[in-house]
Amino acid sequence: MNKKAGILGVGSYLPNKIVDNFYFEKIMDTSDEWIKTRTGISERRMVDENETTSDLSTKAALNAIKCANLTPQDIDLIIVATATPDMAFPSTACIVQENIGATHAAAFDISVACSGFIYGITIAKQFVETEMYKNILVIGAEALSRAVDYNDRSTAILFGDGAGAVVIGNVDEGGILSTYLGSDGKGKDVLTLPVGDSIKMSGSDVYKFAVRIMGEASLKALQMANLDATEIDCLIPHQANIRIIEASAKRLKLDMDKVYVNLNKYGNMSAASIPVALDEAYRQGKINKGDNVVLVGFGGGLTWGASVINWSIQGGKNE
Ligand code: UT7
Repeated sequence: MNKKAGILGVGSYLPNKIVDNFYFEKIMDTSDEWIKTRTGISERRMVDENETTSDLSTKAALNAIKCANLTPQDIDLIIVATATPDMAFPSTACIVQENIGATHAAAFDISVACSGFIYGITIAKQFVETEMYKNILVIGAEALSRAVDYNDRSTAILFGDGAGAVVIGNVDEGGILSTYLGSDGKGKDVLTLPVGDSIKMSGSDVYKFAVRIMGEASLKALQMANLDATEIDCLIPHQANIRIIEASAKRLKLDMDKVYVNLNKYGNMSAASIPVALDEAYRQGKINKGDNVVLVGFGGGLTWGASVINWSIQGGKNE
């Protein structure tokens, strides 16, 4: 029988420093009211001056490994999805490999902006199902507060820092039923982070693309899994803007109580948004064994991806 890949454990880590919208009122021409109503964001986390993407990744990784009842020695491969690596090389994944003592693991980073986590779990699924590797750590992590231009009010207020991680391995029941990935380089200029520079974005172009692609990608992944939108138990969307999330839910005819939202607390954490939301939803008992969970994201590239997961682990409430 073919091996089926699924999530064995999930974890996250957020930096301690909380920065609310009133901070931005003081340094630029904006308001808490504008930010809340146009984006849904109230506050975000920020790394301190000595904290790096690999530090956040390491803590999230250890939480996911613990949740999977494994040790770092059991990990065969580490994939870090990030747009804000500590360095061009060594990869953030190699730094994590050393930090956690995963001495048997290969390690590399992927660059897919906000869609990175879904690309990461798709890569992991292939390696597990071909039996090349048994346990794979997939991390989405960002220190985006280092990549924003504090003179640009249209982007500075949007982003936050954090990390989420999963361990992907063999499951007997459920698992990753489908993944769907896409890209369109024609949109390469609408959302960019040039090397050594800060994030530039044509907000309304990204907005229109996001509203269309979130619904389309979710439906495509559902179709690949032989499911329809009425069978979704929990939707974990990329957390960029509450209006994008609500419009996507509407296109899927899904009640918002089936959609996990935490961008009010964290802003847009790019590759970290989906795994952090997944971890929180699981720990709050919003995802239980047997549930159909849809992950969907979009980002720079342009890129997008969606995945349907039939949840394999017992509820994490009060864990
Ligand atoms: O992970 C993927 C990355 N990004 C996204 O998903 C972002 C997608 N886009 C968006 O979320 C929205 O387009 C934004 C939140 C970025 C902007 O919201 P919008 O409703 O599309 O506003 P807009 O860009 O059309 O701007 C409306 C007005 C403009 O003023 P004028 O030209 O009408 O006078 C902006 O200058 O709002 C102004 N504005 C602000 N005002 C107060 C832009 N940013 C701010 C701000 N505070 N922070």
